[in-house]
Amino acid sequence: MTSPRVIMLTLTIVLVVTIAPKAEAARAFFVFGDSLVDSGNNNYLASTARADSPPNGIDYPTHQPTGRFSNGFNLPDIISEKMGAERTLPYLSPQLTGKKLLVGANFASAGIGILNDTGIQFVNIIRISRQFELFKQYKRRLSAQVGQAQAKRLVNNALVLITLGGNDFVNNYFLTPFSARSRQFSIPNYCHYLISEYRKVLRRLHKLGARRVMVTGTGPLGCVPAELAMRSRNGKCVPELQQAAGIFNMKLVQMIQQLNSELGSNVFISTNAFNMNLNIITNPQAYGFVTSKVACCGQGPYNGLGTCNSLSNLCPNRNAYVFWDPFHPTERANRLIAQQIMTGSTEYMNPMNLSTIMAMDSKN
Ligand SMILES: *[C@@H]1O[C@H](CO)[C@@H](O)[C@H](O)[C@H]1NC(C)=O
Ligand SMILES: *[C@@H]1O[C@H](CO)[C@@H](O)[C@H](O)[C@H]1NC(C)=O
Repeated sequence: MTSPRVIMLTLTIVLVVTIAPKAEAARAFFVFGDSLVDSGNNNYLASTARADSPPNGIDYPTHQPTGRFSNGFNLPDIISEKMGAERTLPYLSPQLTGKKLLVGANFASAGIGILNDTGIQFVNIIRISRQFELFKQYKRRLSAQVGQAQAKRLVNNALVLITLGGNDFVNNYFLTPFSARSRQFSIPNYCHYLISEYRKVLRRLHKLGARRVMVTGTGPLGCVPAELAMRSRNGKCVPELQQAAGIFNMKLVQMIQQLNSELGSNVFISTNAFNMNLNIITNPQAYGFVTSKVACCGQGPYNGLGTCNSLSNLCPNRNAYVFWDPFHPTERANRLIAQQIMTGSTEYMNPMNLSTIMAMDSKN
């Protein structure tokens, strides 16, 4: 017979063992980039690139707009969920203080690109060099709270996501028929220039302490409802934009391989957002969507013109649409992308997927 005390003791041990991993804080997560990953920083700026009016956020837990360009969660939210972490707050949020700093922060700002002249029409946005300045400020605040050594460890062990490049095409080179950049560069030369600037950006990120960075290439820019509305003849993806994205992404993968071999470990992970999205766009029915051409929220052909706002058309069932607005995926499409990030083959996640990264890094 076992005495009640022994049972109690056994129970206590089992409880401690099962609770222990959760008691340790989840890995921190930092996000840099554009509107695909902005969780609301632009709400704090005098910028025209913002998603702060309904029906944005209609499927978010609060059913209110948050600044995310989505009906609900965006990609960083879903990655946090998969890591078992809290959602990272926008860096400019006043709520980002105290213990919340340990979760990480999101520095992304809608409208920005690799180049400083990308997104000038949006007036006040946080360009990538400024996002890094804010990251430095974050590190000082974190150090003040937990000490320098632990702050450094938190940053080195964090997961980082950076999403840049799409706006350098749609909101710069291809914005107007005779844009300054298109007069200056052929598409291959422009891609070459973008990659040389992006290399500097990634080197800086490494210098700032990032050691595990997922770098997304651009999606199929020619297939977004905005481009179908403005440039497509027959509802087919626009070839010039598809080719430009193809060249950029190919060069990006090569550049990342070079950086990794220079830095001596798998710091940067190429995330093939182009193929992940294209699979869904070319065969939406296979993924349970009704359309990948018409945005859920917008106006004009394909609901592809202007922004998503309270005067826009709104679809009743967001889960049937790949695109939420003229440029951005729905939460449901983002969930499929996040699943590929977790478990995709090397075609999608190179050199490895996020579940492999998490398993590997948890042993350190
Ligand atoms: C962009 O602006 C930042 C900050 O002003 C500057 O440091 C950087 O050199 C600029 N990049 C280019 C390519 O001009
Ligand atoms: C990706 O994740 C799955 C498990 O979820 C694993 O079986 C597979 O080997 C991984 N692939 C790569 C290339 O890391």
